[in-house]
Amino acid sequence: MLDLPRQSYYPFEQSKLFYHRKQMELYLNKQTVFPIVYELSLSGVCDQNCLYCACKNYRSDSMLKWSEIKKVIDEIARIGKSITITGGGEPSLNRNLLRAVKYAKDKDLSVGLITNGSNICCNDLLEMEQYVSFVRFSIDSAVKETYCRLRGTTESTYLKLMNTISSYMSLSKREKTKSIVGVQIVWVDQSRADIEESVRFFVDLEVDFVQIRPVDNVAYERHTLSNITYSLETGFLINLIQNYSNSHTQIIPNVNKFEDYINNQTRKSYIGCQGANFTASIGHDNKVYFCCSHIGDIAYEIGDLSHSTLVEILQSDKRANLIRDVNHADCQFQCRNHHLNKVLEKFDLLSGGQQLQFLDNFTSDNYPFHYEFL
Ligand SMILES: C[S@@+](CC[C@H](N)C(=O)[O-])C[C@H]1O[C@@H](n2cnc3c(N)ncnc32)[C@H](O)[C@@H]1O
Ligand code: SF4
Ligand code: SF4
Repeated sequence: MLDLPRQSYYPFEQSKLFYHRKQMELYLNKQTVFPIVYELSLSGVCDQNCLYCACKNYRSDSMLKWSEIKKVIDEIARIGKSITITGGGEPSLNRNLLRAVKYAKDKDLSVGLITNGSNICCNDLLEMEQYVSFVRFSIDSAVKETYCRLRGTTESTYLKLMNTISSYMSLSKREKTKSIVGVQIVWVDQSRADIEESVRFFVDLEVDFVQIRPVDNVAYERHTLSNITYSLETGFLINLIQNYSNSHTQIIPNVNKFEDYINNQTRKSYIGCQGANFTASIGHDNKVYFCCSHIGDIAYEIGDLSHSTLVEILQSDKRANLIRDVNHADCQFQCRNHHLNKVLEKFDLLSGGQQLQFLDNFTSDNYPFHYEFL
């Protein structure tokens, strides 16, 4: 078994779910649970063309309008705890991004942003840091040639982004806030050779975290990328953590995902998708999707916010049926809910009494970092 050290604020631990006692009790009583975290896709348009992108087949011209964003944030604020702005395309192409972040924060939601950063300048970031819990730049490589090749973009985009991040890191007063800013490297053969150099580069900039995750060769036949293979090197990942994590920067391999690959357990053994009780996605077309892997896929559209309220949609039979027995043939292997599903599968094996006893371990005096993002 792979045994990678887990970090003190490791943000991907699925045990975060168990701190949400109210939702867990509804789950145990088999009642409708409203999700805790909502993924919001502001834009179906993207200005990059990443080699591995799982969303390419559902690219569209749609963008959420301000009136739609405001309405859905109002609705989420009544029932949820957090929003991750990400999407089927690039959220920073929607000119309402900053306004959406501020509005959601005003409504007492925690907000995270996942972006390729191409349309965000240093001043935007400096303003945003007051409102966001985290910003994660999808970068893959700090080496210009690799970056441009992998992300299907130009040298000027690379230079602008690096300039934004480094200016921000030198000007930011983040110690006064709770926001963290980091980068993500998707591990594909094409980025592997540069990973250590990239980690060193971002550690020198003192970003808060460098997340490394394996590419997900999504299950849909039409998405499969034959030119990507895995060469997983546990020792290499452990050395990265030991040699480069310091008081400013945490190196965070996505341990659960790497372990799955190494132990050959990326397939789904569970039935349905119980994790979807706690997460949902709002598409750039103002429709609600069962999960972010399926944004744009009509089979996974659970309602249209132009005609129904979010609460009505979340109470729909379609959502309940998908939770119970979604067909995994359509699913990404290491999708948003994969590890939530695995944890819930184990939890469901406990007796009722054991479940309640287990939940008593998770109390409000030891909430983990960013527990509201699951
Ligand atoms: C779909 S993108 C949308 C937001 C934005 N365009 C970006 O790239 O950050 C969200 C995240 O999914 C990641 N991603 C996309 N396809 C992937 C895949 N096949 N395997 C692993 N991560 C993937 C991207 O690197 C990015 O961090
Ligand atoms: S920037 Fe994001 S949405 Fe665009 S191609 Fe890359 S991973 Fe996909
Ligand atoms: S198992 Fe994953 S891809 Fe499938 S429906 Fe659930 S979250 Fe979506």
